[in-house]
Amino acid sequence: FGQRIVILDSTVSTQQDAMRLAEEGAPEGTVVLAEEQTAGRGRLGRKWFSPRGKGVWMSIVLRPTQPLGFTPQLTLLTGVAVCRAIRRLTGVEAGIKWPNDLLIHGRKVSGILLESATEDQRVRYCIAGIGIDVNLNTDDYPEELTQLGTSLKIEAEREIDRTELIAAVLEEMEQLCRLYAEQGFQPIAMLWEALSVTINRSVRAHTGQGIAVEGTAVGLDPSGALVVETDQGERIQVISGDIQL
Ligand code: BTN
Repeated sequence: FGQRIVILDSTVSTQQDAMRLAEEGAPEGTVVLAEEQTAGRGRLGRKWFSPRGKGVWMSIVLRPTQPLGFTPQLTLLTGVAVCRAIRRLTGVEAGIKWPNDLLIHGRKVSGILLESATEDQRVRYCIAGIGIDVNLNTDDYPEELTQLGTSLKIEAEREIDRTELIAAVLEEMEQLCRLYAEQGFQPIAMLWEALSVTINRSVRAHTGQGIAVEGTAVGLDPSGALVVETDQGERIQVISGDIQL
């Protein structure tokens, strides 16, 4: 990972740039970074606030060999990698909210967007998009985000070196992808559950189809879906969407 890194001053979205490189045959581990994004993308069609020089706005080309249904596992793997890198570098105990929002003191510090290009039920490539609010100050946030977002600088009470953080994320990604290739998803799921702030909490889940489920999050199933147990003892798998804790 990081053998080839493209650094841009300003771009629309590093997801688009990485996709273009992947289409041109860029190998796994190719990275695109930008100082600012003019239309950063979030999950579920949301926007991602990406101000100049204050964060890590990064996309990584992945070339998984597993069939299509396995991509949620890569989303969770990426969340573990970023969470470990943040903890190692800053000492701040970030936790993962399913599927892969990273929270500190209940506020979001990082988000991950995994997009896949497929053909005949096969994955051609995935782009792991990682946004980390690194050196934003409280007054950098637009009003609608002040209650929701936080940065590593606010939480660690010091400037964080973005280059060191990027290096740590790439190291963690490489290690976890190796573990995943050698031992499958189970060890990744264990790491995810240990870093998660979702397990054993009561949650309300909204699936992509707009169906609401209420219950206790009990763990991940082998595919990477979140298992929610309702008060009636029924176990429901949540594959996509969002949860409220
Ligand atoms: C989310 O929490 O909704 C996911 C946010 C992902 C943001 C990153 S920033 C780098 C990459 N480029 C984008 O346009 N989005 C991802």
